[in-house]
Amino acid sequence: MKGAVYMTILVLLWCGMVALVDMPGDPWKAPPEADRLIDPLVDDAKAIVRGQKVFSSLCWTCHGTAGKGDGPAAAGLPIQPANFSDPSVQAQSNGALFWKITHGRGVMPTYQEALSREERWAVVHYLRTLSP
Ligand code: HEC
Repeated sequence: MKGAVYMTILVLLWCGMVALVDMPGDPWKAPPEADRLIDPLVDDAKAIVRGQKVFSSLCWTCHGTAGKGDGPAAAGLPIQPANFSDPSVQAQSNGALFWKITHGRGVMPTYQEALSREERWAVVHYLRTLSP
């Protein structure tokens, strides 16, 4: 009996630890409805240039000037910023990337207030140019 209680406590402690350790490394998935967001800039040839302006003022410090996740601020972060040439990033829909830029997570800031909706879509278009 005593043994069972002891085991239960051990198991609970272990689960708690796993939950804590697991959190930061969790793959970050946008909700499925993000894939259905309509990109207002699909046919806008100027979107990339506008996105580049946003990127070179706000994003490069962490993500690096070429978007490889190696900006000057990256070394001090508990989680590495995404490398935009990574296929796991490029495989995501524009809507999913827009959603992540809008909401952020942990060290990745939320840009819902700092950037207009159009600026967030434009920077997604720029990220597409960073694929290898
Ligand atoms: C303070 C550092 C920092 C800044 C500034 C920053 N990011 Fe990030 N970004 C991160 C980190 C760290 C992650 C990984 C977050 C995670 O997985 O929990 C990330 C993840 C992302 C992702 C998700 C990639 C994936 O794997 O799905 C996108 C998209 C992104 N950032 C775009 C941007 C854009 C666009 C900007 C500028 C408007 C920006 N970030 C500015 C740190 C930053």
